[in-house]
Amino acid sequence: MATAHSLILVGFMGAGKTSVGRALAAMLGWTFEDLDDRIERRTRRTVPEIFHNDGEAAFRRAEHAALQESLHELRTNHRIIALGGGAFVRKQNVNLIEAAGLATVFLDASGEELWRRCCEQSAGERVERPLLGDLESFRELYAARRSHYLNASFRLSTNGKSVEQVAIEIIAALSLESCSQGEKQ
Ligand code: S3P
Repeated sequence: MATAHSLILVGFMGAGKTSVGRALAAMLGWTFEDLDDRIERRTRRTVPEIFHNDGEAAFRRAEHAALQESLHELRTNHRIIALGGGAFVRKQNVNLIEAAGLATVFLDASGEELWRRCCEQSAGERVERPLLGDLESFRELYAARRSHYLNASFRLSTNGKSVEQVAIEIIAALSLESCSQGEKQ
């Protein structure tokens, strides 16, 4: 496989896409982008506000437009992009990523571990996830989505691993190379 110059992190809520993405970017000197942040900047609303006021379909449209814009900006690359948990499930988003030729990494973990992390984040960091639901609906949604995440170019189990450990494993598995300040976009 050719050395990747940009990377997309996929996985369910609580997979660690944002924290691992930040750590990876810091280690490599690449830039990091959380797609949900771009959606919020573009719409001038928070993700929960979009869900509550306009519904999930409107959020998915905003998500697709944000992904398209982000991929369009990649010229010299060297960017890590963390997708929201539902983005990689949609064919039109997968098509965009494939057309851009980007490597994708599925951050895998058990349903119990993902639920525990999400609960911790909603209590501690007050992260609001409109689709969190209860444990049963969380498990069902994860089961329905998992086969899509498995289409990523690489899968990594994150159970019981630190964010740094996961980032180091990704760098080794994909032979990622750090870039100098001048190369960074
Ligand atoms: C979603 C996950 C969220 C966010 C939105 C929808 C989903 O991102 O994009 O609430 O469909 O699973 P995280 O995976 O970062 O929580």
